[in-house]
Amino acid sequence: MTTALDQNAVVRYEPRGAAQQLFKNRQSEVFIAGPAGTGKSLASLFRMHLIALNNKDIRCLIVRKTAVSLGSTTLVTYEKKVAQDALARGIVKWFGGSTREAPGYRYSNGSKIDVGGMDKPDRIMSSEYDLVFADEATELTIDDWEAIGTRLRNGKLAWQQQMGACNPSAPTHWIKQRCDQGQSAMLTSRHSDNPAYVNADGSYTTAGASYFEKLDALTGVRRLRLRDGIWAAAEGLIYEEFDDAVHLVDPFTIPYEWPRWLAVDFGFTNPMCMQWWAEDPDGRLFMYRELYHTQRLVEDMARQAKALMQYPSGAWREPRPRGVICDHDAEDRATLEKHLGLRTTPAYKRVSVGLQLVKSRMKKAGDNRPRVFLVRGALVERDPELDTARKPACTQEEIGGYVWAVKPGGTAPEAPVKKDDHGMDTMRYMVAARDAPVSRKRVAVRSVSPR
Ligand SMILES: Nc1ncnc2c1ncn2[C@@H]1O[C@H](COP(=O)(O)OP(=O)(O)OP(=O)(O)O)[C@@H](O)[C@H]1O
Ligand SMILES: [Mg+2]
Repeated sequence: MTTALDQNAVVRYEPRGAAQQLFKNRQSEVFIAGPAGTGKSLASLFRMHLIALNNKDIRCLIVRKTAVSLGSTTLVTYEKKVAQDALARGIVKWFGGSTREAPGYRYSNGSKIDVGGMDKPDRIMSSEYDLVFADEATELTIDDWEAIGTRLRNGKLAWQQQMGACNPSAPTHWIKQRCDQGQSAMLTSRHSDNPAYVNADGSYTTAGASYFEKLDALTGVRRLRLRDGIWAAAEGLIYEEFDDAVHLVDPFTIPYEWPRWLAVDFGFTNPMCMQWWAEDPDGRLFMYRELYHTQRLVEDMARQAKALMQYPSGAWREPRPRGVICDHDAEDRATLEKHLGLRTTPAYKRVSVGLQLVKSRMKKAGDNRPRVFLVRGALVERDPELDTARKPACTQEEIGGYVWAVKPGGTAPEAPVKKDDHGMDTMRYMVAARDAPVSRKRVAVRSVSPR
């Protein structure tokens, strides 16, 4: 469609399939779900933009789990592909936010689109909205979704709506269940809905062919979800105990006296992973920071890690880690020690023991809480190469696809599939350093000293 709207903003967009259905839908909750790159985000953003151009003084919200991820993905699509003409003509302007108001886009007809992350909900949740779009909605908890729903009462539009876009996740995910129970509508988006990748006759465009090559290279549950669009459970999931609602926690101020640890798995073509852990007085472990990046030298990762922990003067921003638990490569360890200025300790590497130790920490203890947690938003920066390849970009994103290797002959599997396991290995090193049977190595971890 090409539409000349408010002050001649020109909008060109051809919605197909689920995108077209979304444009007509006025149910109070609607999800558009499907494999990677079907045009879900673009359709949702276009719809919001058109409604904002067409209606005076309405208030909308674009939200993601974290504000940082919104800025690097959804808002780029909005500015480059949806509102570029309106922005160039000054019909839409960026507003940087104030102490009371969330940042966002201001339309010349008085309509507003606020933007924000549920990791910092204060300003976005203090407004009332007509239309909300949650991108990558599977990252949200059901509590987030319901809390957003309570803000939908601006009443400037004749109807209010909460839209969500997502790739399929596990069949037990609350979004799938909510739609199955009829509380929300689910529109199923397919690759054929995206004219940038698939021509009207079903053949691939050049861009489509190279995009589908990446999806064809995926394996396991990621392939089922991102290529085939299935709400699939991972078969032979190793960390069955892991539950986002229990093991993922919001950021909190970590008491200074809690011991800190650093765990490291080396990589270059594969990601190198560095995880910072804090241990509470009852021995629970919280991963509060993470670097996870490909194509970065150990010395560069070490410098970045050091700058996160220390001021340029060398003074510590946070408690010095009591141990740096490390993958074994001698040369990489030496480089890391040199540039980090801390000694390292080789990790306890027995895989089957380590896995059992992590699993047992993930189970709820007597106090009904597990003993290992990941803090939301721990990842310092996303690696765009991993996003392009649709690979996990942090420890948390590995968990749902970390599976046992199936052994021919049906014997019980003991080893994980060695793929997308960099955060998994690092977490195992950390847990084993605290829980593995006491050995000389573990004693060494306890008494690590600066170089
Ligand atoms: N109807 C359309 N017309 C032109 N280009 C489109 C259309 N739909 C999608 N595209 C383009 O295809 C690409 C993928 O679209 P988009 O990011 O919206 O997909 P998505 O389904 O949200 O992907 P993901 O699953 O990764 O979130 C983008 O470059 C987008 O501009
Ligand atoms: Mg998207």
